[in-house]
Amino acid sequence: MRLILLGPPGSGKGTQAQRLVARYGIVQLSTGEMLRAAVAAQTPVGIKAQHIMAAGGLVPDEIVVGIISDRLDQPDAAKGFILDGFPRTVPQAEALDELLKKKRIKLDAVIELRVNESALLQRVETRVAEMRARGEDVRADDTPEVLTNRLASYRSQTEPLIHYYSERRKLLTVDGMMTIEAVTLEIDRILSAIGAVEEAKAAKK
Ligand code: AP5
Repeated sequence: MRLILLGPPGSGKGTQAQRLVARYGIVQLSTGEMLRAAVAAQTPVGIKAQHIMAAGGLVPDEIVVGIISDRLDQPDAAKGFILDGFPRTVPQAEALDELLKKKRIKLDAVIELRVNESALLQRVETRVAEMRARGEDVRADDTPEVLTNRLASYRSQTEPLIHYYSERRKLLTVDGMMTIEAVTLEIDRILSAIGAVEEAKAAKK
């Protein structure tokens, strides 16, 4: 199974990706997580990305395309993957098309999680409160000001991908306002409808 999860910050991409990983034995490829690890380790990529991420902007396409290209070459990605937070711009989507073409891999679907803006703010506030309560470090970009910039980046640079994948008949839209469990069930239902679940079960064997 090869999927893309598309949606604004706080729409539930990471949450649903983890649930898909558990059920279908595929890997979650989150560019956000990879970039945060690079920032923590202060690698050259991390040093470049740090200020952009902290301001809610997008890291340059060539950096994230390079990261994903290397990651797709790893053996664990061969059985299937879920891209969480990539692609985020049309040039990233075009680069991904090229990478998959070279590997003779077909993308099954792009799942768009649609969530109201007010709910996004509330979810991120809840995440911050929960992380603080557990004594964990809060993400540097989870402040109301940076979230506003992340939403603006999504609207101007990522939303055009809805049209991009809709034109290519890959887009499946899910109501992300439902409970986490209901969203998972709906994703399962639409993946079954396109035959992706049977294929994934066969590949997992
Ligand atoms: P990234 O890490 O991808 O962050 P994001 O897209 O802003 O998304 P979040 O992780 O905040 O939210 P999510 O949609 O995963 O929701 P979650 O499941 O956590 O990117 C961070 C930064 O890295 C970017 O701003 C950019 O700078 C850079 N970057 C990354 N990729 C890049 C790329 N390709 N190109 C350029 N730059 C890139 O859920 C949020 C909360 O809501 C959780 O607490 C969860 O429990 C809760 N929740 C989830 N679903 C529900 C539900 N249905 N009902 C109620 N609560 C829910």
